[in-house]
Amino acid sequence: MEIVKTIGDMKALRRQMRGQVGFVPTMGYLHEGHLVLVRNSRKGNDHTVASIFVNPTQFGPKEDFTAYPRDPERDFAMLEREEVDAVFIPGAGEMYPPGFDTWVEAGKITERLEGAVRPGHFRGVATVCTKLFNIVEPDRAYFGQKDAQQVTVIIKVVRDLDMNLEIVVVPTVREADGLAMSSRNVYLNPMERKAAVILWKALSTADKLWAGGESNADRIRGEMMTTIEKEPLAVIDYVSVADTETLEELEVINRAALVSLAVKFGRTRLIDNIVLKK
Ligand code: PAJ
Repeated sequence: MEIVKTIGDMKALRRQMRGQVGFVPTMGYLHEGHLVLVRNSRKGNDHTVASIFVNPTQFGPKEDFTAYPRDPERDFAMLEREEVDAVFIPGAGEMYPPGFDTWVEAGKITERLEGAVRPGHFRGVATVCTKLFNIVEPDRAYFGQKDAQQVTVIIKVVRDLDMNLEIVVVPTVREADGLAMSSRNVYLNPMERKAAVILWKALSTADKLWAGGESNADRIRGEMMTTIEKEPLAVIDYVSVADTETLEELEVINRAALVSLAVKFGRTRLIDNIVLKK
């Protein structure tokens, strides 16, 4: 496995690769969720490149950029075991040299949900992914359903800017009790970790109501809120039932709906989602 730190070296290595190239962008501190993306890429391509870059431009000034967990040596060992061909791990100065000032904005859909709470977040995500796609030139890039709005934004950017790659979306990998795996789960103390299962309970409530014939989105949001409010450590940021493409809130679920939520436990903010299909 090659460990590559500069854009020049990554482009040179890419030029030597023959056949199809799969790409898994990450911010590191890898867990099973990331590794499932890697395995999907390994299965579908001749070569797999992963990247590790805690992207400063997608963090707000009051967010956890400095505190974000980092352990590149452990990440390298995990990626080596998965037989990844190369890891691209640039420094912030390599990706954003002095004078850098070109941005990718995906418009309306970035103003809702996570975008409403984290202004500038998706501009940072769209910009770094565009740069990474240009550097790695993959045939396919793998993203987790866990970050549903990120998936919507990236698919839109690729389509709107005619980029030459396919975006593959991989289902969310969960712990045994249903909590979605996340690098940020390490912030939770044991009590918060136990309480965090309420996210999955709320999503399961929505799924059951929908399966039982409920199509009134307000009633589903209401039942989810009631479920979460029973957990004293949980503070709701939002509960949403929205159109999967436009991310506009729905009144009646008459097409594919993204049920998503953001909940705080102490200082840790967790997100999760499911899709209700017709
Ligand atoms: P990061 O949070 O490290 O996630 C990297 C990829 O792993 C994303 O596509 C994310 O959706 C996926 N992922 C995380 N947890 C998952 C889980 N439990 N199941 C399935 N997939 C999961 O998302 C980012 O980094 C960044 O925004 C990035 C795209 C790298 C741009 O900086």
